[in-house]
Amino acid sequence: MATILSVSGSPSATSRTARLLRHLDDRLRAHGHDVIPFDVRTLPPEALLHADFRHTAIVEATALFERADGIVIGTPVYKAAYSGLLKSLLDLLPQYALAGKTVLPLATGGTTAHVLAIDYALRPVLNSMGPAHITPGWFTLDKDITVGDDGTLTVSPGAAEALAQVTDQFSLALGGRPTLLAATG
Ligand SMILES: Cc1cc2nc3c(=O)[nH]c(=O)nc-3n(C[C@H](O)[C@H](O)[C@H](O)COP(=O)(O)O)c2cc1C
Repeated sequence: MATILSVSGSPSATSRTARLLRHLDDRLRAHGHDVIPFDVRTLPPEALLHADFRHTAIVEATALFERADGIVIGTPVYKAAYSGLLKSLLDLLPQYALAGKTVLPLATGGTTAHVLAIDYALRPVLNSMGPAHITPGWFTLDKDITVGDDGTLTVSPGAAEALAQVTDQFSLALGGRPTLLAATG
């Protein structure tokens, strides 16, 4: 099965995007994949802000991208596009860091006015990095993701169904087991 790097580009410590990705990571594992969770916000800010390509943390992050067969890129929509934090990492990766890889783009946002941010903002940047395949992505409204006091994540049924579909399509493109799983919200 494939090695998947699951990258959250949210700067928030209580990120819905990151929680959503970690939830989908479990689904990908159930399909037989090896999933590595990665939050860009854990990288040293000075390395990102000063474009320090040689910083150990950036070298290690680059190696994680190299190792992966598939990459989930999740971002909150900020100002009608992806987050600056995500871009600060993408800018430090080699031009063709996604060569040969299958990519699943995901976004969370506050308004359906920006539902196309994945297609008009994120997808062109990812395409410029040479992926073999970008599978259909999904934009999830923040109000459809709730976190209980005990940390339990709930995704509203419509969003959960759509996310299950795009995740399974990504998994199949990577040779995942076609396990029948319910859309868990
Ligand atoms: C600085 C900032 C800018 C935002 N800009 C937009 C926007 O342009 N369009 C939108 O739909 N949501 C926007 N949002 C809402 C977030 O995308 C949304 O709440 C998202 O789920 C936050 O994800 P996170 O919890 O992972 O950080 C913005 C939020 C912040 C904090």
